[in-house]
Amino acid sequence: MKQIWQALKAHQQAVEHRAILDLFADPRRAETFSTRLDDMLFDWSKTNIDHTARDLLIDLAGAAGVAEKREAMFSGAKINETEGRAVLHTALRNMDRPVQVDGVDVTPALRETHARMQAFVRDLRAGRFTGQGGPITDVVNIGIGGSDLGPAMACLALAPYADGPRCHFVSNVDGAHIHDTLKDLDPATTLVIVASKTFTTIETMTNAETAKRWMAGVVSDPAAQFAAVSTAADRTAAFGIDASRVFGFEDWVGGRYSMWGPIGLSLMIAIGPEAFDAFLAGGAEMDRHFREAPFAENLPVLLALVGLWHNQICGHATRAVLPYDQRLARLPAYLQQLEMESNGKRVAMDGHELTHHSGPIVWGEPGTNGQHAFYQLIHQGSRIVPCEFLVAREGHEPDLAHQHLLLVSNCLAQSEALLRGRSIEEARATLAKKGLTGSELERQARHRVFPGNRPSTTLAYEKLTPATLGRIVALYEHRVFVEGVILGINSYDQWGVELGKELALALQPMLEGRAGTEGKDGSTAQLVAYLRR
Ligand code: F6P
Repeated sequence: MKQIWQALKAHQQAVEHRAILDLFADPRRAETFSTRLDDMLFDWSKTNIDHTARDLLIDLAGAAGVAEKREAMFSGAKINETEGRAVLHTALRNMDRPVQVDGVDVTPALRETHARMQAFVRDLRAGRFTGQGGPITDVVNIGIGGSDLGPAMACLALAPYADGPRCHFVSNVDGAHIHDTLKDLDPATTLVIVASKTFTTIETMTNAETAKRWMAGVVSDPAAQFAAVSTAADRTAAFGIDASRVFGFEDWVGGRYSMWGPIGLSLMIAIGPEAFDAFLAGGAEMDRHFREAPFAENLPVLLALVGLWHNQICGHATRAVLPYDQRLARLPAYLQQLEMESNGKRVAMDGHELTHHSGPIVWGEPGTNGQHAFYQLIHQGSRIVPCEFLVAREGHEPDLAHQHLLLVSNCLAQSEALLRGRSIEEARATLAKKGLTGSELERQARHRVFPGNRPSTTLAYEKLTPATLGRIVALYEHRVFVEGVILGINSYDQWGVELGKELALALQPMLEGRAGTEGKDGSTAQLVAYLRR
């Protein structure tokens, strides 16, 4: 491993200053450094990765044991070693393939829960399950992190397929969130889903109580319009939710990997069981590809290796996710949790400090909006931000096809501009045509130079259907897995979220004036004094 890392670093230093554009002197460059899965095209040719770098990266994946660990994950081994758990979100989208945890096949229980979800959703969508004021018109999913971001992202992404009740998402403990969401809804025709793996998360439980009070003001039996999604059946019962509307899952489904199962209930309600199954099938298709394709043709492996090249080898700390697809507006936020909660760790599985940086900082916004906001820095800032574009060949609005064309041309223009840049000579020539001369021409020209040679990748797909979304989400999940294995990280725990939770609990009585701030640092004590009610 160490030798491969060193060889990669040495190679990167040797090629750092060459122009990526020159690599296209090879007429087969684009084709060779692209990977396809059916209609999906992942073009990673606009990076500085050449044959040598690619081969070394693939060697790195081999030496890290990606293939062996991949099989361990799919077969139910407890690869989440710090929590002693299997990692089996893949079983949620492939319930026909038996897989054992502690010697027991887990798939019959998955199928049963899935069938119960389908029956409930069908009843609700057909008006057989109603609120106390009539058919359910609105669904409010109360959850946070993995119990919110996945279904919220997917409900927006698949809006063209939504033909059920309207779905709303409340996550923040800030009362403004639930207030603004509930204020226009009718409690008598609203279903509240309390989505929490642990059913202890303070934000979710607080919002759930608020929703219950809101409903109690109007309907006689608020709990009858609540459903729960959790691994903690005892707690959902204590909250008063009837077991017939509780959909359980096991602790081997990580929160940020959980949208495929009961956490996806809101999505199933929005788009219907058939479209939800198509979403699962898309994820399962990516699983098959990930398990079977050789590394050199394996989409998740290559996406991970490109990420490692940019972050750990080239030293670019962030990556921008830039969907040219307004309905993927929540994808960057979803990926922030998926990638940063999974691989944002400086200690390896074996307890030692990492010798490389942990996973990258992930951020982004949909195009073309971002172009009018932060692309300035991406094009002319002093730091390099590898960009990951996503774009569909076809939109869902045939009568607005001309707008889709504009969208796509903007997407391609951005990756081309990042690659090509604009030289000082080109800038001078443009200004000279406008009549500028001398030192003013020179000064102005400098501001108009684009260094170019900035890496990007593009994931293109036919259309954002449920199956395509399933493939995209599973693709990123497996990317995280591969990056985690190569870095030696446990991608499936999240100890880094605990300290803040503990401190918040201790601060509550101080803010209420029931406890003093002795032992707090001066800044925290001052802020408590200011914010205390
Ligand atoms: O605090 C982080 C976290 O545990 C995430 O990993 C998780 O997705 C989120 O909180 C919500 O947890 P739960 O589903 O148990 O409410």
